[in-house]
Amino acid sequence: HKHILGIEHLSREDIFQILDTAAGFKEINTRAIKKVPTLRGRTIINLFFEASTRTRTSFEIAGKRLSADTVNISASSSSVVKGETLEDTARNIEAMHPDIIVMRHGASGAPHYLAERLNCAIVNAGDGAHEHPSQALLDLFTIREKKGSLEGLKVAIVGDIAHSRVARSNLYALTRVGAEVRLAGPGTMVPPGIEKLGAEVHHDINDAIRDADVVMMLRIQLERQGKTLLPSLREFSRFYGLNQDNLKLARPDALVMHPGPMNRGVEIASSVADGPQNVILDQVENGVAVRMALLYLVAGGEAAEES
Ligand code: CP
Repeated sequence: HKHILGIEHLSREDIFQILDTAAGFKEINTRAIKKVPTLRGRTIINLFFEASTRTRTSFEIAGKRLSADTVNISASSSSVVKGETLEDTARNIEAMHPDIIVMRHGASGAPHYLAERLNCAIVNAGDGAHEHPSQALLDLFTIREKKGSLEGLKVAIVGDIAHSRVARSNLYALTRVGAEVRLAGPGTMVPPGIEKLGAEVHHDINDAIRDADVVMMLRIQLERQGKTLLPSLREFSRFYGLNQDNLKLARPDALVMHPGPMNRGVEIASSVADGPQNVILDQVENGVAVRMALLYLVAGGEAAEES
């Protein structure tokens, strides 16, 4: 694939190729000298129109560990604030001959729009409520690492499904590799028809997490809600929050996951977020290796010669 725009159009084989490539890169991140010459001479631009801690930093670290030159542009300190359009911004960046643009944008489809217009490779780092492919891939990597395989696992994804690009990308990825996906959230936060993508839909969190191998909690996306939040934060936390009591319904060795940033005390109790079943920082650690794999594969899978 020239671009990584989403999981929707990746095959099971594509997904395993990315996970296996990431497994090869993971060890580099624990070395004393964490750099290999693989992408030496390549230029990667991180173009972020929305806030990010994990994704932007780990794409930057991933590029640097592969010896690419990485440049970060955040919209708030760019000429976007002077009214420059996305297309003009991107064409000007492309005139500097980057090899890859990693892009986060609030509009669903923004990276697809650029991919149709630019010659360089585009990697989607999150587009609106649509997809967040690198997040789903690092989630699958983490689950496979902890559980040994993905096929047949019961994965509950709970919370604000409607606004979650993480949920959508994970739904595509997990069903493609043979996991059973159960979605749970209030009716206002579960998009109608999502079961057509192969998930069970529940409105009672207990039904989704009973006997689950993995419980993935989602951040309630306050910035993407309409004028009124329904249910209220307090009700949401009471009926859809993960805590030590309802987690007992899941398998005793169930993994607790969260893409971050967490609203502690809203969708997840701190006792669970910091508890023995959580793999939340493993997700972040694996994010670097998975993003190294994505950059390497999008760059053509060719290593620079050692010398
Ligand atoms: N999980 C995730 O995308 O986090 P950031 O918004 O901090 O990048």
